[in-house]
Amino acid sequence: MKQRIADLAGEMISGAFPDAQGLPEDLASLLEVPPDPAMGDYAFPCFKLSKALRMGPPMIAKKLSESVQRPEIARVECVGGYLNFFFNRENFAREMLSAIMKAPEKWGSSEDGKGKTACVEYSSINIAKRFHLGHLSTTVIGNSLKRIYDFQGWKTVSINHLGDWGTQFGKMICAYKRWGDKETVEAGGVDEMTRLYVRFGVEAKQNPALEDEARAWFKKIEDGDEEALEIFHWFKDVTLRDAMKVYDTLDVHFDSYAGESFYNDKMGRIIDELNEKGLLKDSDGAKIVDLEEYGMPPCLILKSDGATLYATRDLAAAVYRKETYHFDTSLYVVAYQQDLHFKQIFKVLELMGYDWAKDQCKHVAFGMVSYEGTAMATRAGHVVLLDELLSRAQEKALAIINEKSPNLQNKEEVARQVGVGAVVYATLQNNRIKDIDFWWDRALNFDGETGPYVQYTFARCCSVLRKAPAITAAPAYSALTDDEAQALLRLLSRFPEAVAEACLRNEPSMVTRATTEIAKAYNKYYYEHRILDEDESAAAARLLLTDAARNVIKTGLYLIGLSAPERM
Ligand code: ARG
Repeated sequence: MKQRIADLAGEMISGAFPDAQGLPEDLASLLEVPPDPAMGDYAFPCFKLSKALRMGPPMIAKKLSESVQRPEIARVECVGGYLNFFFNRENFAREMLSAIMKAPEKWGSSEDGKGKTACVEYSSINIAKRFHLGHLSTTVIGNSLKRIYDFQGWKTVSINHLGDWGTQFGKMICAYKRWGDKETVEAGGVDEMTRLYVRFGVEAKQNPALEDEARAWFKKIEDGDEEALEIFHWFKDVTLRDAMKVYDTLDVHFDSYAGESFYNDKMGRIIDELNEKGLLKDSDGAKIVDLEEYGMPPCLILKSDGATLYATRDLAAAVYRKETYHFDTSLYVVAYQQDLHFKQIFKVLELMGYDWAKDQCKHVAFGMVSYEGTAMATRAGHVVLLDELLSRAQEKALAIINEKSPNLQNKEEVARQVGVGAVVYATLQNNRIKDIDFWWDRALNFDGETGPYVQYTFARCCSVLRKAPAITAAPAYSALTDDEAQALLRLLSRFPEAVAEACLRNEPSMVTRATTEIAKAYNKYYYEHRILDEDESAAAARLLLTDAARNVIKTGLYLIGLSAPERM
């Protein structure tokens, strides 16, 4: 509809000013949505035409308004320099519902990304460390972005850049060999590994020789020693086995688990290139790329003992992804604390002559999560583990469901969907850069702006449709001209723009918001109108509206990573 109004505005302009030159080309981008629907469905501001037409904006608006006559437009009004368009309500309802119901699951999808590839890196957990709340945002934001990009026609590659490299693995193997055993690690998983690691720290204070032993083990991993590698890979498997449970619960998937260690044999070439291009500098025996000119501290490439660093691996990873996937965009969903790191990486790539880094590599940063008012403490015992959080969410959701719908059939499954949905929604509710304070009461409130509320609205739509008798009468769109139906239709019509915008800005919260607004508008409609009207044609139209809302809410939920239970 937006494009149609823009085209119409274009025709009006060439009608009223046939000889005008130098007018803005993209009229659709000028169109605004008035803050109050009483001011119209779209407003066309005439300010940017003023220069080309040598006329004040109010005069332009006035002249344009004289020429409008279209079945889809009921009227236009000139207010200041704006031309406000009012849709023909019946026509709008007919057009919108026909458009949506032609392919209801696809409403909001596009071919914008056709032929293009997006690498989306997210979650990127650390091996042998607990999967805690600190990795919730990256996991759910990344998952949502992957879904949004897919829906916009991109080919996506989802990557879990595992933190599986570092001298700590030498320490852990040393501790395992001394004090651990296979069964305990198998049974205890990451917790047992953490215990071993902590014990290493304590014992090494007494006995510094252990540090040498740990270094020797790490060197063995680097040199490909069979035993060392076997233990190292086993630690990885055990960690991932636990993580997989969380990923399954969240319905999150990856195409690649190529983590830091994957780049062990891919950094030599990067270091050579840096050398050849004269970018590598000596600094107390270490090798760095000086970034002072760009107002940044140096990027560390090699330690004085020749060891590579986090940044070295990221340089190799960026180049590898480009050469393997030929991406058009490469996203890094990582906390804002690593802002400087990514600025440095992208700059170094650019200096190396990889021009794509500048426009195609993007750090998708997000804020911190705190839990019921306390910031995430890293000291053992204070971290909130993700699997515990998700199980708690399911328990709490189950308690609420037991109270609200004691007779529901598959309560456990619905509790899972609602509990997880509450957590995910709370994470994707606001702009990603904002810090999040997670509170149970808020996240699980069925009446607030929450996951359960939107899911409940979806279930309500399903229930209305389930209970409706079979109707053969054709829908009477004249039954959908009231303010509430129109408000809902307007939001449904703009849903595709919200998805496109979310993709453009890597901002899933725009989909959360659009979906929540639709749910609110449907509920308002539901409370103020009888859907199953005596008049069959009116009922048919209202059911169609319900079905459209149901489909679009389901899509919105899917795009932010929530399930849509049909009964709640
Ligand atoms: N594993 C790191 C962490 O947990 C995040 C990795 C981010 N991605 C990257 N390509 N550097 O903090």
